[in-house]
Amino acid sequence: MNALVLSSPAKLNLYLDVLGRRPDGYHELITLFERISLADTLFIRRTRRRAIQVTCTDPTVPCDRRNLVYQAAAFLRRTYGVKEGMRIDIKKNIPVGAGLGGGSSNAATALLAMNRLFGLKISRAGLIEHANELGSDVAFFVLGRKWALGRGRGGDLTEIKVSGRLKFWHLLVVPKVSILTKEVYGALKRQGKGGRRGRGTGATFGLTKKGGGVNILLPYLKEKDISSLDRALYNRLTEVVLNSNTFVSEVYNSLHACNYGRVHMSGSGPTLFVLMRDYAEAQRVFYAVRRRFRDRCRVFLASTW
Ligand code: C5P
Repeated sequence: MNALVLSSPAKLNLYLDVLGRRPDGYHELITLFERISLADTLFIRRTRRRAIQVTCTDPTVPCDRRNLVYQAAAFLRRTYGVKEGMRIDIKKNIPVGAGLGGGSSNAATALLAMNRLFGLKISRAGLIEHANELGSDVAFFVLGRKWALGRGRGGDLTEIKVSGRLKFWHLLVVPKVSILTKEVYGALKRQGKGGRRGRGTGATFGLTKKGGGVNILLPYLKEKDISSLDRALYNRLTEVVLNSNTFVSEVYNSLHACNYGRVHMSGSGPTLFVLMRDYAEAQRVFYAVRRRFRDRCRVFLASTW
């Protein structure tokens, strides 16, 4: 086998609470990941040249050592003594820096592809360990399940199994602004214990509630009780982002006012999403929202994958 073409999906955080600071400077999280159908495509092939070559259709993505895919390839080459080179072409569909885990997913896909292409025979557990050296969300994509609970930095995973078929639709509204994860966590620190109240931008988000705990939410997922699940979704970082970014808070408020459903944020944002069960309804809302928000946002319809 000399080449592979693989999908590299995005994720949503259906639940994300920050439990505290860790000695390593990161934050201790509890999060519920969902893998969704919005995906990049990776074309990966072995080359005779000893170099790692990465290209990306999105010109804002650096393709050198700063790229997580490059780092994943370099790491495996170093650790397993791979002599050959490789070329990885990324066709980007997932918005960059949006809280959708695109870069992490690409790195995970590269790890899985190299394991197969070079016959490295690394176990899933071994790959997950490597994934956690690369970033906080990479392991979830290596696990390759629909839903998983992430603890620690986010990479200590437990799969959440749901019996039978369950598929959600998600309207994704991605404000055209880039947000640095590091800065969102930094702002959380500055807000300290009073953080749940935020600094206030005059917007009324009604988000001063605490997360109800992921244990409340999991039974709703397993019982497929979507309206209770929707009410239990929570993201500790939403208020931080809305209080520090007027543009995102304006989009949030307009989307909220449209009454399509509860508005949630994924990861450290700025992606906002609405949970829906019915495809026809989701499609109708998607066209309406795209018409209305297209100047300010990228709008997608995605499902559980
Ligand atoms: O691991 P990743 O590169 O996705 O994290 C980006 C940044 O987000 C980190 O440098 C860190 O500042 C912050 N972060 C954190 N705690 C986490 C995950 C990320 O503080 N659990």
